[in-house]
Amino acid sequence: MRIPKKRRKVSIIGAGNVGATTAQKIVENGLADVVLLDIRDGVAQGKSLDILEAGPLMGFDTRITGTGHYEEIADSSVVVVTAGFSRKPGMSRDDLLHKNGEIIRDVALNIRKFAPDSIVIPVTNPMDLMAYVLWRVTGFPRERVIGMGGALDSSRFAYFLSEETRTSVSNIHSLVMGGHGDQMVPLLDFSTIAGVPVRKMVPPDRLEAIVQRTRHGGAEIVHLMKDSSAYFAPAAATYSMIESILHDRHRIIPSSVLLEGEYGISGSFVGVPVRLGNQGLEEVVVLPLSPEESSQLAHSAGVIAEGISALKRLFNDFSE
Ligand code: APR
Repeated sequence: MRIPKKRRKVSIIGAGNVGATTAQKIVENGLADVVLLDIRDGVAQGKSLDILEAGPLMGFDTRITGTGHYEEIADSSVVVVTAGFSRKPGMSRDDLLHKNGEIIRDVALNIRKFAPDSIVIPVTNPMDLMAYVLWRVTGFPRERVIGMGGALDSSRFAYFLSEETRTSVSNIHSLVMGGHGDQMVPLLDFSTIAGVPVRKMVPPDRLEAIVQRTRHGGAEIVHLMKDSSAYFAPAAATYSMIESILHDRHRIIPSSVLLEGEYGISGSFVGVPVRLGNQGLEEVVVLPLSPEESSQLAHSAGVIAEGISALKRLFNDFSE
């Protein structure tokens, strides 16, 4: 009899829309066992039980445990962080930075204590800045803090291109770099449809409209849903990163990582194409950007650097 290899474990902090949907994808696809943790009593437990009760219908045997206790995240290969608030009307960016920064600092201390060998995937917004907090407070090497942003933005860009050209999404490769927000940088020269550069397939005015729609992809969904933000595509983007890590696939997925001189940027988490495998970040892929793209990326990185300065002020430079 072959003894099955122990299934790997993914912990998800925050059992809201993004967290629970990511958990469901992981469990239904048999990728790993999941621990779902939330501060609201019973929410993670209830959602986990609900997901498990679909097992006989969907045919999965993977396990999911809902909890409010960090001890349960021990031995996780990957920890996804979705805990926090979204920006409410009347809330300034600094208010959100302070509120989510405090939550993420607390989450980071717990990850450091209970899952010190894990690879962390920050999802909570403002994501590039929360990634910085997780990196600073856990003290993990940059290879193990990899923010989810570019995968989602690139997928939105690819979907809009497929819709425009009536071409299967499987033919489209698209790339969005920079901050996960209005300052993102969709790269037209590195986006192709069946290998053909998009500029050859889509007229400039349509391409510009698609770029703008991609930039505001998150806002478009909030505008439609009113009291919630996107979660199906964010969960799918997070899943794709976890899958490349756990299956050691070495996929190149744009993600927010701490740059150490690549693209002329240091000390900030910025979205760039990276190779993901079971050690986490394996390589930052450096592309020959055009002068215009380089300056857009520098601008985006500058906005993130300002955010990091604000964080350091708000949190007394993270001195404990
Ligand atoms: N510890 C654990 N969980 C927490 C904590 C905490 N300190 N604080 C809040 N939470 C939980 C909430 O109880 C809630 O269940 O985080 C969850 C957030 O879920 P939602 O409000 O549904 O938000 P969601 O749509 O999942 O988005 C989460 O991801 O994409 C980003 O912008 C989005 O920052 C947001 C995050």
